[in-house]
Amino acid sequence: MATREKAAVIGLGYVGIPLASLLADRGYAVVGMDIDPQRVGDVNEGRVPLKGDEPDLQPLLAKVVRKGWLKASEDFGGCRQAKTVFVCVDTPVDEQMRPDNRRMIAAAKRIGENLSKGTMVVVESTVAPGTMLGTVAPIIEGTSGLRLGRDFKLAHCPERVMPGRLLHNLTNYDRVLGSLDDESARRAEAIYSKLTAGELHRTGLTTAEVVKTAENAYRDVQIAFANEVSSICEKLGVDAFEVRKLVNTSPFRDMHLPGAGVGGHCLPKDPWLLAFGGREAQPVLIPTARMINDGMPFHVAELTADALRRMKVRRASAVVAVLGASYTGDAGDIRNSPTASLISCLEGVKEIRVHDPFVDDLYGVNVLRRAPDALKGADVAVFMVAHKEYARLTPSTLKKHMRRLAVVDGRNLFSEKRMTKAGFVYRGVGKGLS
Ligand SMILES: NC(=O)c1ccc[n+]([C@@H]2O[C@H](COP(=O)([O-])OP(=O)(O)OC[C@H]3O[C@@H](n4cnc5c(N)ncnc54)[C@H](O)[C@@H]3O)[C@@H](O)[C@H]2O)c1
Repeated sequence: MATREKAAVIGLGYVGIPLASLLADRGYAVVGMDIDPQRVGDVNEGRVPLKGDEPDLQPLLAKVVRKGWLKASEDFGGCRQAKTVFVCVDTPVDEQMRPDNRRMIAAAKRIGENLSKGTMVVVESTVAPGTMLGTVAPIIEGTSGLRLGRDFKLAHCPERVMPGRLLHNLTNYDRVLGSLDDESARRAEAIYSKLTAGELHRTGLTTAEVVKTAENAYRDVQIAFANEVSSICEKLGVDAFEVRKLVNTSPFRDMHLPGAGVGGHCLPKDPWLLAFGGREAQPVLIPTARMINDGMPFHVAELTADALRRMKVRRASAVVAVLGASYTGDAGDIRNSPTASLISCLEGVKEIRVHDPFVDDLYGVNVLRRAPDALKGADVAVFMVAHKEYARLTPSTLKKHMRRLAVVDGRNLFSEKRMTKAGFVYRGVGKGLS
């Protein structure tokens, strides 16, 4: 039997675990490395430590661990035998919205200390333009004593996964391969053609950095546009969702959905990475879009206050049920959750009860698993996430549990007409008062 080519994956999170599992399944002997011993332990026991529903990932991880094709370790020694080292560490921004590269720098140092000649390092993490050649390469050169290009190769293949669709995206989406030189590109192509049915697009390292951050900044700007139109609609007494539908009947228009906020690990920070990398151009639109989207949970808090006023409920006696704690529907990822921002704006109410079917704890706030437990005795139900379970709720179910009838709809889950007809005070993002 042919021996398996060795690969190392640094950082076992939403990106690293599916990548390591898939590489192992497609013929590589993989060592996964993480600084978190809990992560390492979970992977070695074949257990996916990620929250939310990830189709097919649990059986795949269990299989490749059982077969001995994937092992996890806190020791970076496994890089020495690896022909390819993939970097999948988290790359947040700091409080000034500048790249916080501490994890990337730490990983690059340890890769350098354990690097053999001929290895290729592939960064899958999203980084600010200029990071590959300005930070990653010099650190690896510094700690390894090896020369970039001559002794080791470098590529940047930014990841396009999304929680809830990790394996699907990994195996189907096109990939952009930013490479140092022809050999790096050929080697990256040989690997990624085994992982995805999508097309592989060759380009340079810096272009790949711009492509990934621009992909997410583009989406963020589009959402901000939809949110701004939704605020206009609310003031004018029209429905932003009807406006959107009709706008999109015009050719070449693709207006996005407005909503209660933008969260997750990527969209709230990747635009800042692009703006930082391109700071000499003094970008205006990208930071403005970020501020509009960050403001949406505050707007939901205003709608909630308005609903309470309309029912003549004093803030200090209000019981608020917040439905949805994750940042996106039917997933358990709470990073940069708009609900966390909303809760900070609801200060002064008597009680806040948060529900989410996929989350237990939201940064210290207890999250209830059953919706009736949150709705029982509530004055207002605030919907922050479009979990499928919420779309199935009817006015009569809500009536059964709530003590007063008000709904704040952050995700266009309900019809205003139906709710008001059923006796509810209804306020919603993008829903003008008729
Ligand atoms: N989550 C997504 O859906 C997604 C999608 C596309 C791109 N990305 C990008 O991929 C990268 C990783 O994101 P993620 O969501 O998987 O993050 P994550 O937080 O889920 O996982 C990162 C892992 O890296 C580990 N780590 C941190 N520093 C380390 C170090 N020095 N050495 C070894 N391990 C270390 C952490 O302990 C953690 O387990 C980020 O740059 C992100 O922007 C994420």
